[in-house]
Amino acid sequence: MTSESAYNNILLAVDGPVATVTLNRPKALNALNAPLMAELSDALARLYRDEAVRCVVLTGNERAFAAGADIKEMAGASAVDMLTRATLSGFDAVRAFSKPVIAAVSGFALGGGCELAMACDMIVASETARFGQPEINIGVIPGAGGTQRLTRQFGKYRAMELALTGEQMGAQEAHARGLVNRIAPPELYLEEAQKLALKIAGQAPVAVRLAKDAVLKAQDLTIEEGLDYERRLFYLLFATEDQKEGMAAFIEKRPPQWTGR
Ligand code: CAA
Repeated sequence: MTSESAYNNILLAVDGPVATVTLNRPKALNALNAPLMAELSDALARLYRDEAVRCVVLTGNERAFAAGADIKEMAGASAVDMLTRATLSGFDAVRAFSKPVIAAVSGFALGGGCELAMACDMIVASETARFGQPEINIGVIPGAGGTQRLTRQFGKYRAMELALTGEQMGAQEAHARGLVNRIAPPELYLEEAQKLALKIAGQAPVAVRLAKDAVLKAQDLTIEEGLDYERRLFYLLFATEDQKEGMAAFIEKRPPQWTGR
């Protein structure tokens, strides 16, 4: 495992094809301030360039994944300050990242923390995880996708309740509503997320990338447009060496050797 110490607010560790990015402002419950978000964007840009990295786990600590955007940093800001600060672009970096990202969530995932987890492709939660959009309690609303993603996932009524009351929901409810893929005990949730990441990292890289792309597109396109989009990506995979290898390996009854080409 290699660890990158160039960052002050996150930790980056690469173990074979799986990179783990740990939000690391424990005293502030990993509140997402501008330096942390800039480091997250930078780390993702590096991990994108590193072809050996196939899947990323984004995590916090046992008490908090992240308790939201940094209220102390934002409290005195004007609208123009907020517009011109790049803090929220870290969310866009996660959204635009083409390799799969799995959020491993324990404790608080509130406000921007919940939004950051939802910007990931899958969520593995500890039994202690608490999700919510409490912005209403401090006189604002979610600013990084909370109202949109929760409504798409839960429907209008529960999303409305969460946005208007600021109440938290536990891991069980999040799992029952399909927001969380898997729940694990607090001592195992990170390992569980890393195991899932390793499994995905063992698949054909171009197919993984296009499968992620197609699933994300399903949220934006009509069914007709989505079916057309998927079909084109499917045909495109027949231009890869890994398609030939995967099908030959099946016929020859041997494990495939992916090259990512
Ligand atoms: N920003 C800045 N600091 C935060 C923070 C945040 N979002 N959340 C927690 N902290 C800090 C606290 O100020 C405290 O610091 P000090 O020790 O210096 O006082 C430290 O973290 C520990 O927090 P608490 O003492 O409050 O811990 P607790 O266990 O009593 O409560 C909590 C935990 C319920 C999560 C509570 O900290 C809380 O309500 N935090 C704010 C949650 C919130 O409102 N998030 C939304 C932010 S706005 C947003 O995210 C906008 C967006 O959509 C992008």
